Amino acid sequence: MAFDAEAIRRDFPILSRQVHGKPLIYLDSAASAQKPRAVIDAMTHAMEYSYANVHRGLHTLANETTDAYEAARRKAAAFIGADENEIVFTKGGTEAVNLVASGIGASLHPGDEIVLSEMEHHANIVPWHFLRERKGVVLKWVPVTDDGQLDLEAYQNLLGPKTRVVALSHMSNVLGTINDAKSLARMAHDVGALVLFDGCQAIVHKPVDVKDIDADFYVFSGHKLYGPTGIGILYGKAEKLAALPPYQGGGEMIGAVSMDEITYADPPHRFEAGTPPILEAIGLGAAIDWLAGQDRLAIAQHEHGLYAHVRERLAGFNWLRVIGEAPGKGAILSFTVDGAHAHDVAQILDRYGVAVRAGTHCAEPLMRRFGVTSSARASFALYNTVEEADAFVDALTKTQAFFA
Ligand code: ALA
Repeated sequence: MAFDAEAIRRDFPILSRQVHGKPLIYLDSAASAQKPRAVIDAMTHAMEYSYANVHRGLHTLANETTDAYEAARRKAAAFIGADENEIVFTKGGTEAVNLVASGIGASLHPGDEIVLSEMEHHANIVPWHFLRERKGVVLKWVPVTDDGQLDLEAYQNLLGPKTRVVALSHMSNVLGTINDAKSLARMAHDVGALVLFDGCQAIVHKPVDVKDIDADFYVFSGHKLYGPTGIGILYGKAEKLAALPPYQGGGEMIGAVSMDEITYADPPHRFEAGTPPILEAIGLGAAIDWLAGQDRLAIAQHEHGLYAHVRERLAGFNWLRVIGEAPGKGAILSFTVDGAHAHDVAQILDRYGVAVRAGTHCAEPLMRRFGVTSSARASFALYNTVEEADAFVDALTKTQAFFA
């Protein structure tokens, strides 16, 4: 059966609103996706009926909420092929990378090397810069080719006996490039390095099996996966999490505390100090249930179809530059319009009801690589339609006319 985007849209209340008197065309899901009714209902139900703190109470509401919170962990684990004790709830993908970097950093020495790439989001750059500043580690950068792929020969050459960590994007938030995580991990492991993948974009568009990839760490956020903000997932192999020191101190992450000494809980609770994002975990669990109930292959085909359709229509526009043309890329279109600043493009598109992102996309090294200070970005999701794609191209054509 053909993928029915219209049926999917009915699950998303916000998509029926208007912007500037025009139907909303939301092409900014790579920044944050809209939420299906299932997520809204799950969080509302928890707040209206069964809410208390988790892992602390003995009363009915505490037990029910703890069960719902831990069920969300099991759902996240099953979603990526992990065991539940390998899933840490964080406040987002960014915190998950910070947690790993800070933990690994404790055992790094001056001159140790960390391999990143030019296509990383700042969330997977800045925490490693902290280690450069504080520990004297050396950051090495995998270059990106003109069409937006990782230069694999250069990657191979960067790896060596000093490489301690490789931290790479599974899918670029700017280029849409989907990297071959399994091969990248194998090459890193061949030199004994740990591998972390930033899966914030990839997890939305393709099934991910962390064991098949053989990732040591894999991070993603809830809000791009049709779940709420304020929640992220850190997956870590059990033995790798066990080797990390605690990230934050507080309640529920300890074994025992006295005035003279302290012991810590085992992962994942060791990394969940304080009251965790309870409602957000429940919401993410609902998002995962909802997405797992969809035909993910059909979704991927639908999104690729939208991208291909738009790309074809744009092919004749000599005033437009597309950044990122890697084979098999995901449905993210970054572009510049000759003579126009990306912010102006985005603001004019907004008048036509079209929401795109503009700026550096938290990827300044990549912007520099492509010789631009900013770009506009349309990102397509499962709820976008061919009619919307066409309306976007039409609005873009009218937008360009302002600068011609
Ligand atoms: N990382 C998000 C984006 O690419 C915010 O827009």
